Amino acid sequence: MRKEAPPPSVAKMLSCFETKTLVVTFLALGLVMLMWNLPPYYQNLLSTTRSSCSAAASASAALSITNSSSANNSSTPVAAQKYSTPKTIPIPDPNSRVFRPVGNAASLFVLMGAYRGGPRTFAVVGLASKPIHVYGRPWYKCEWISNNGSSIRAVAYKMLPDWGYGRVYTVVVVNCTFPVNPNEDNTGGKLTINAYYSQSPRKYEKFMALEEAPGSYNESKYHPPYQYEYLYCGSSLYGNLSAARIREWMAYHAWFFGPKSHFVFHDADGVSPEVRAALEPWVRAGRATVQDIKGQAEFDGYYYNQFLVVNDCLHRYRHSANWTFYFDVDEYIYLPDGNTLESVLNEFSDYTQFTIEQNPMSSVLCLNDSTRDYSRQWGFEKLLFRDSRTGIRRDRKYAIQAKNAYATGVHMSENVVGKTLHKTETKIRYYHYHNSISVLGEPCREFLPLSAKNNVTWYDKLPFVYDDNMKRLANKIKEFELKTIGNVQL
Ligand SMILES: *[C@@H]1O[C@H](CO)[C@@H](O)[C@H](O)[C@H]1NC(C)=O
Ligand SMILES: *[C@@H]1O[C@H](CO)[C@@H](O)[C@H](O)[C@H]1NC(C)=O
Ligand SMILES: *[C@@H]1O[C@H](CO)[C@@H](O)[C@H](O)[C@H]1NC(C)=O
Ligand SMILES: *[C@@H]1O[C@H](CO)[C@@H](O)[C@H](O)[C@H]1NC(C)=O
Ligand SMILES: *[C@@H]1O[C@H](CO)[C@@H](O)[C@H](O)[C@H]1NC(C)=O
Ligand SMILES: *[C@@H]1O[C@H](CO)[C@@H](O)[C@H](O)[C@H]1NC(C)=O
Ligand SMILES: *[C@@H]1O[C@H](CO)[C@@H](O)[C@H](O)[C@H]1NC(C)=O
Ligand SMILES: *[C@@H]1O[C@H](CO)[C@@H](O)[C@H](O)[C@H]1NC(C)=O
Ligand SMILES: *[C@@H]1O[C@H](CO)[C@@H](O)[C@H](O)[C@H]1NC(C)=O
Ligand SMILES: *[C@@H]1O[C@H](CO)[C@@H](O)[C@H](O)[C@H]1NC(C)=O
Repeated sequence: MRKEAPPPSVAKMLSCFETKTLVVTFLALGLVMLMWNLPPYYQNLLSTTRSSCSAAASASAALSITNSSSANNSSTPVAAQKYSTPKTIPIPDPNSRVFRPVGNAASLFVLMGAYRGGPRTFAVVGLASKPIHVYGRPWYKCEWISNNGSSIRAVAYKMLPDWGYGRVYTVVVVNCTFPVNPNEDNTGGKLTINAYYSQSPRKYEKFMALEEAPGSYNESKYHPPYQYEYLYCGSSLYGNLSAARIREWMAYHAWFFGPKSHFVFHDADGVSPEVRAALEPWVRAGRATVQDIKGQAEFDGYYYNQFLVVNDCLHRYRHSANWTFYFDVDEYIYLPDGNTLESVLNEFSDYTQFTIEQNPMSSVLCLNDSTRDYSRQWGFEKLLFRDSRTGIRRDRKYAIQAKNAYATGVHMSENVVGKTLHKTETKIRYYHYHNSISVLGEPCREFLPLSAKNNVTWYDKLPFVYDDNMKRLANKIKEFELKTIGNVQL
């Protein structure tokens, strides 16, 4: 499947020869049929095998050169002498230097997910070598191969939603839109992608991105009403997370977004057994999903590949909910002045996207109130001091109508159709307990006198004021939790 110009070294050709023979045998066994029917996971396995083949090829090329250099007067590798054509080999120009590649630093494409996004359109979400996209002009082509024997092609367009933030890898969303529904007759088929190394159409890799079983296409999935009103797409969870804070976050937002909502978490090795236990009752109740993305660690992207994860979640659940929310597990969405979520979102319904301003909270300061047993209180019940500086540019979080979004970011999406609304601070906000999620013990580490309730307190050269809006909801949330999932042991 790999398409490229003739290999530069004859030795490499030799070591690939055996592999090729193997592949031919493989095909001859008719396994190619099977291969095309394998789900993406096995495709990944296959491509892993292939890349280790080419790594082995480079390695043995290196070896045969080392070996031949032991024959003092021979400039040609032993292996090459055996297999090259009888033509006399020109004496190499001693000033013509040879560049010998070893290994592979970054893959051309790393597939995370491919999803149908409507009757004619698909999104393929993955990572790609960043320098290839910064300095080259790689592109993509899509083909639908129908089970009825026909096929149809489309030139894809790509989006790089983490532009500038990527590291070895950058996130790529490939949009394949066909002129008609390629599976109109519902006989099923496969979406394959050609990923090109550069502008040149000569060198590319072809892989299967998605398969639709016969009869599985259902047009009604791509229209409202959707399964949920609200969907939460969480970014990568990593490090040591406090199970207590996760429990509180989940209970609060399950209450806040109501029964027609769903929560998707992405475990980049941040879900310890304790955190898992906190989420488990909600998973069992059908309210939450935990995706294991530990495999992302192989691929060096921005912050545990969070841009990849939010784009995968966007397309995986594109037609699952009216609104999709993107924020973190140390952030709590809040409605000031007795607004209801429904009324606020009705008001915003002409917008594809709106951003949300934060109330930055101290994750350290608590009241020195001897009548309270802090160790038993919830985080948002005792962290009551808000950084009162205004007019500072701070990160925002956002929600979108995913059906109008083609790719997304962490603080907002720049690939949408429709309008974006920023002036939302009187309608909806979020409380941000920065880093409280990774404090494993007691978050209260500084105690302020009761007089701080009515005063500005300076701490670390920042002014803090008392804000108990969240605290006032705590009893309601605890009752809701008990009623919904029963007694929680932590
Ligand atoms: C050199 O090549 C010979 C035959 O090709 C092989 O038996 C030997 O192990 C090689 N030596 C090294 C150091 O790789
Ligand atoms: C290679 O050179 C070494 C000394 O430089 C010599 O001892 C050895 O015999 C030579 N071998 C061949 C095959 O010419
Ligand atoms: C290279 O070495 C072989 C013996 O290993 C010898 O027969 C031959 O003449 C040598 N060639 C040159 C160019 O020195
Ligand atoms: C195969 O299916 C496609 C799309 O459903 C349809 O356009 C095409 O006519 C079909 N071809 C045959 C040979 O049935
Ligand atoms: C298509 O999906 C809708 C709900 O999304 C369901 O009611 C309907 O039965 C499905 N149709 C088929 C043919 O499966
Ligand atoms: C979700 O969308 C459906 C259909 O467009 C609409 O009837 C419903 O009111 C919406 N719900 C919310 C909470 O926006
Ligand atoms: C988590 O905490 C343990 C013990 O406190 C520590 O050994 C470990 O390095 C931490 N892991 C991370 C990813 O911070
Ligand atoms: C809390 O207040 C009491 C007196 O009300 C005082 O004795 C104690 O030292 C204070 N604790 C802290 C941590 O400030
Ligand atoms: C792909 O882009 C087209 C507009 O060019 C859009 O209509 C379609 O919804 C997009 N598909 C996905 C899956 O994002
Ligand atoms: C505010 O703090 C000062 C000391 O910092 C104190 O004298 C004053 O009584 C406090 N005001 C209120 C209303 O508690």
